[in-house]
Amino acid sequence: MKIFKHRLALKREISSNKNLSFVPTMGGLHSGHKYLIQRAKAKRGKVIISIFVNPKQFNSKKDFKSYPRNLRLDLNILKKLKVDYVYMPNFKDVYSFKTIKKIYLDKVSQTLCGKFRRSHFLGVVNVVNRLLEIIKPRYIYFGKKDYQQLFIIKKHIKKRNIKTKLISCKTIRSNNGVALSSRNKSLNNHSILIASKVFKLLKTEKRNLKKGSFVKLNKSLIIKKLNKLGVKKIDYIECINLNTLKKPLNINSKFNIFIAYYLNGTRLIDNV
Ligand code: PAJ
Repeated sequence: MKIFKHRLALKREISSNKNLSFVPTMGGLHSGHKYLIQRAKAKRGKVIISIFVNPKQFNSKKDFKSYPRNLRLDLNILKKLKVDYVYMPNFKDVYSFKTIKKIYLDKVSQTLCGKFRRSHFLGVVNVVNRLLEIIKPRYIYFGKKDYQQLFIIKKHIKKRNIKTKLISCKTIRSNNGVALSSRNKSLNNHSILIASKVFKLLKTEKRNLKKGSFVKLNKSLIIKKLNKLGVKKIDYIECINLNTLKKPLNINSKFNIFIAYYLNGTRLIDNV
């Protein structure tokens, strides 16, 4: 496994490689990340992982500073998984060059998480666009856990005619249903129990919605149920069409219930 901190050295090593599979991460690696890496390894070419906690996608300095980091553990995990390259740059290495492609930010970036985390998706597309220009991978992997992110990056890649193919990967969950996330490290047992009940509630609600003739979430009722489980702060809970990221019109459209909520000051997102 070769580790690079500087983009020029990395580019020298990989520039002739036409078959790279790339998994961008912010570290704090867990089995969700591992699944993406395993999907990447299933392709024929070499696998490259980036670890970079991107300050531009955080809304507050405090959140950026307290984001879980554990580089030594991450590198051990990547070594065990036998990835070929790791890119772990600093801010300057990523942001001190002019990109060829301009950022394309789809309108849906203003909905759901975008409403509550201003300029978050601008920061995400900015960094992914830069990583794509440095690495020029054949494939890039994203998790459906962050479905809105995946959707917005897909639109950017299409609109800007980028040759990389985006591969979407299923959400990996613990046995109790909670979607794995680096942020889960700051949850106590009580919060994890609530998160697992939230997952079960959303599953039941979705099943019930599917029985009806049109998709309409009874929001005030579901919010009451969430409050009863111990969820005090909810940013949003919406039924969303997975192809358009808008509200689903009829029962035949593929949809999920999307949620962003807080437990003990930690913001969690999921879609079920
Ligand atoms: P990060 O939160 O580290 O996630 C990296 C990738 O892992 C994302 O594509 C995310 O959707 C995926 N992932 C996280 N938890 C998952 C789970 N439980 N199951 C499946 N996939 C999961 O997302 C980011 O970093 C950043 O925004 C990034 C794209 C790296 C840009 O900075």
